[in-house]
Amino acid sequence: MTLPVLVDCDTGIDDAIALTYLAGHPDVRIAGVVSSAGNVEVAAVHRNNLVLAELLGIDAPVSRGAAAPLTADLMTADDTHGPQGLGHAHLPEPTTSGDPREGAQLWVETARAHPGELVGLVLGPHTNLALALELDPELPRLLRRLHIMGGAINHRGNTGPTSEWNIAVDPEAAQQVLAAFTGAPQRPVLGSLEATETVRFTSATLSRLQGTADRTGHPVATILVDALRWYFEFHQADGFGWMAHVHDPLVAAHAVTGGFARTRPLAVDVELTGMLTRGQTVGDELGRWGRAPNVDVLTDVRPEEFIDHLLQMLQDALSGGNRSL
Ligand code: RIB
Ligand code: CA
Repeated sequence: MTLPVLVDCDTGIDDAIALTYLAGHPDVRIAGVVSSAGNVEVAAVHRNNLVLAELLGIDAPVSRGAAAPLTADLMTADDTHGPQGLGHAHLPEPTTSGDPREGAQLWVETARAHPGELVGLVLGPHTNLALALELDPELPRLLRRLHIMGGAINHRGNTGPTSEWNIAVDPEAAQQVLAAFTGAPQRPVLGSLEATETVRFTSATLSRLQGTADRTGHPVATILVDALRWYFEFHQADGFGWMAHVHDPLVAAHAVTGGFARTRPLAVDVELTGMLTRGQTVGDELGRWGRAPNVDVLTDVRPEEFIDHLLQMLQDALSGGNRSL
């Protein structure tokens, strides 16, 4: 029994790794991909998703999302992911323009087509899920579960001093999503920075992925290696040394397997008006708000076990499947 998953992503280097992982996972059927503006403009995100879907043989609709956040001006992260979103990688042109439906519509129609079964996976800003909730407020009860890469709970941010990228790009959307899913049959799982930053790609990790590219000759393997070289250069320039924090794949793998981390319930909300803290995800550790927990936050990550699993799954995914456009 395969798990239907809708992936909403701002591809992006770690998004691309997560998509490859999911495309090759034997227990997963990607039921839809939504291209969200974030790391780069939505047109570049969509092009990346279309090309990856074709090269990986993902048989699912790929829909373009909104070009900008709900109310904020769009900010992108060309320095982090490269001007086209995949660092130094050179991609062929996609042969299709994707599904004509808007991203929000694809969320709604895919959830309705799989009542109670669809796993929603948000690896970028929450703009399109927030728009989907406006179209159909029943989404929290239609989804099997929602898994989010986002936030930083009592942990420094990576975008502002207290804010994480996926939340900081569209804080209003994130706040609306958390509010809408409060009281859902299953609390959303939140993979925030203090969890995902334990996953550190090193030169050894990069070498193992290069080995996969050499052995398989799969174009996506080369795309991921070339993309990661940019990501390493960014982290080095940011003072972290020759490494990369790879966020999205951990949340994707936990969504599918339930492994590599534990969770703890917590009441979390998003700061919208802070002069210094806009976009911060605030966790009420001591219950001062008197609110029931509304998310399950990833904790106790086992990074080495996860990285070994990820690299093996990438090797399996790239040893077969489509190879050319
Ligand atoms: O803060 C990390 C997140 O922001 C990841 O999803 C990365 O792809 C960027 O979107
Ligand atoms: Ca992302």
